[in-house]
Amino acid sequence: MSGSAKRSITITLDGTNKSSTLPVLSGSIGPEVADIRRIYADLGIFTYDPGYGATAACESKITYIDGDAGVLLYRGYPIEQLAEHSSFLEVCYLLMNGELPTPAQLREYEMGILRHTMLHEQIRQFYNGFRRDAHPMAVMCGVVGALSAFYHDSLDINNPEHRRISAFRLIAKMPTIAAWAHKYNTGQPFMYPQNRLGYAENFLYMFNAVPAEEYKVNPILARAMDLIMILHADHEQNASTSTVRLSGSTGANPFACIAAGIASLWGPAHGGANEAVLKMLADIGHVRNIPEFLSEVKDKGSHTKLMGFGHRVYKNYDPRAKIIQKACHDVLGELGIKGDPLLDLALELEKIALNDKYFVDRKLYPNVDFYSGIILKAMGFPTSMFTALFAVSRTVGWISQWAEMIEDPEQRIGRPRQIYTGPTQREYLPPGQRG
Ligand code: SDX
Repeated sequence: MSGSAKRSITITLDGTNKSSTLPVLSGSIGPEVADIRRIYADLGIFTYDPGYGATAACESKITYIDGDAGVLLYRGYPIEQLAEHSSFLEVCYLLMNGELPTPAQLREYEMGILRHTMLHEQIRQFYNGFRRDAHPMAVMCGVVGALSAFYHDSLDINNPEHRRISAFRLIAKMPTIAAWAHKYNTGQPFMYPQNRLGYAENFLYMFNAVPAEEYKVNPILARAMDLIMILHADHEQNASTSTVRLSGSTGANPFACIAAGIASLWGPAHGGANEAVLKMLADIGHVRNIPEFLSEVKDKGSHTKLMGFGHRVYKNYDPRAKIIQKACHDVLGELGIKGDPLLDLALELEKIALNDKYFVDRKLYPNVDFYSGIILKAMGFPTSMFTALFAVSRTVGWISQWAEMIEDPEQRIGRPRQIYTGPTQREYLPPGQRG
């Protein structure tokens, strides 16, 4: 643990003479943490924090979020500056290595990634096992998990070179896997990666091109795709990253861990929210229906959520949402799309919600998913692909956090405890004595 302990907390357990002194550790920025590792030994009790809202599960140097101030830093660099000046592969280098690359380092890194964009020809057969209407996330879970069957040469997680090559393979192959999932849905032939293209451009080529004719990727869309990937690259210890870390703590191979992260991201409360936002906007249909919809959201019994709003950490505007909202306007304008009814509806919904006491009191603001679906739809992606694109972007964050965990000397297998409220011990009853 590189955090320092300058202070401590001493707690005593009522009705006993037991006490525990817990070191309070400081990081470089952000809240201090109480190191509770000795609390069970001292007091014989566990701590209780369902959803881990107040629990630091690890030490990390990768991403920092200040939820109250709406700040997001990748290795200390503000997301706004990376969005404006960087590229996705440069951000991948930063997240994996901790520093921005020199031009020579970036060129070498880019070549390293591009050399792994193709999939083993046998992997094409996996797609044939799915129904044509299989959700792309189902395909991603299956195909990524199966990758470990093809790379027996690099599954020793304690070998730094194996960790590096696995990270390169995963970052490089995710766009191909996702694009082929879409092609499989449409019945069109798979398009092979063209390594003369940039990372986002290559993905858009594989997604849109057909063998029958030349296809040139629109540079506006390539830049927008690269920006969206930067914004989704990492986000501290979110549910899917925590899933990857917990899976990795058992020694599972990186391909299996990333497949677990994909499965976790799929949920509508997490990465599946961008798809759910588009469905919500379609259900609302028109600005005049917004008040009725928001009344339904406020009725707890309806279980209706304002999708794309709220966040476990951000209690202010998600900085990524601001950047994507601006990109929406830029992309639609550059594509000559005069106004997008979905975007207009979303802007009006945001304006009304941000002035509604229910949402203001609960500090519910738009998150990254509120606008991402709108720009992805404008770029021609089907809603079923939205979360798959999130998974492509987040793979670098997952694999960087996974590697950091493996290299952390304090890391042990993740094994949370519980408070048990079930039946105490009782004797087995023969069937005739039950009921
Ligand atoms: C992502 O963790 C990450 O970093 C995730 C992510 C990443 O990059 O990895 O940022 C990506 O997952 C963004 C979030 C996408 N999900 C959605 O947009 C789905 C809609 N949002 C909610 O489901 C919800 O806001 C969560 C799941 C995101 C957060 O859930 P919490 O932490 O339980 O919410 P909370 O404690 O802040 O809720 C406070 C109150 C509660 O009501 P009360 O009990 O106080 O009356 O606000 C309510 C909640 O019921 N609430 C909502 C709401 N979100 C919270 N009410 C209506 N609509 C919502 N969207």
